[in-house]
Amino acid sequence: MKLLSGTGNLELSKKIAQNLKLKLVNSNIKRFADGEIYVEINENIRGNSIFVIQSISTPANDNLMELLICIDALRRSSAKNITAVIPYFGYARQDRKVVPRTAISAKLVSNLITNAGAHRIVTVDLHAGQIQGFFDIPVDNLFSTPIFSKHIKKYISNKNIICVAPDVGGVERARALGQKLNVGLAIVDKRRPAPGKSQVMNIIGNVKGKNCLLVDDIIDSGGTIVNAAKALKEKGAKDVYVYVTHGVLSGNAVEQINNSKIKKLILTDTIDNSNKIKKSSKIVVLSISNLMAEAIKRISNSTSVSDLFK
Ligand code: R5P
Repeated sequence: MKLLSGTGNLELSKKIAQNLKLKLVNSNIKRFADGEIYVEINENIRGNSIFVIQSISTPANDNLMELLICIDALRRSSAKNITAVIPYFGYARQDRKVVPRTAISAKLVSNLITNAGAHRIVTVDLHAGQIQGFFDIPVDNLFSTPIFSKHIKKYISNKNIICVAPDVGGVERARALGQKLNVGLAIVDKRRPAPGKSQVMNIIGNVKGKNCLLVDDIIDSGGTIVNAAKALKEKGAKDVYVYVTHGVLSGNAVEQINNSKIKKLILTDTIDNSNKIKKSSKIVVLSISNLMAEAIKRISNSTSVSDLFK
């Protein structure tokens, strides 16, 4: 087994490698003057099982292309099998036609990765579980729930807590964490009047006097979570903690969070936000590296990955 890292989130790759007591494959990934990507593998990988780690985060198109070129380079270097480890699977939100005459980009990206030569996918908290079906190769979708529940048990001592889904699409995710913590569930009725804009219509469930744990897969502009936190406070919630796997944090998201009703926002490091979070005392980052390393180890040893989440 060998690990190759793209440049999308090198810090996470290094942590995974450290955990597995491996060195990252010696490679040269660079841009030509016109922006084209060049990948060269500087060591023999013939017959090896290779895990190539790359998040499809900002700049999403560059990072995606880099992943595809890495896979192509590995295939042409006679790797025995190639697992694309994609901590943040960008384009996953475009998983259906919401309006006519649009692309299903999540399917296109799945085709590109498969056709480049990947034999297996490992990812974390896919926006929609059904995206696994866009691939005809195995997909291991890991969950951040064990990391979040451990943090909650350690830091949120008040037992009067409730998990909250910030929209109907997030109910399964919030319920899973709620079940692990043995607490109830509330749901925010969110509407999107226009792309990138969110509006809270109602809160389903009683949150009065409770510590609310808002759970989501992605925080992008921050609108969904900031508006949900405001609505929860208006309904009498005590403190609002937010647990999100992928911190896209575009535009002025960090500023919005700083000025919001949110007590703490807990993210994982599927996306490298080390520079952005310096501007916020509300944001905490938990590393997903140990979980990912353990999953990689289990795949390599052909043992169960799902057992990790029992
Ligand atoms: C939507 O279905 C996702 O789960 C997130 O709630 C959404 O992507 C967050 O976006 P934003 O932070 O821009 O509201």
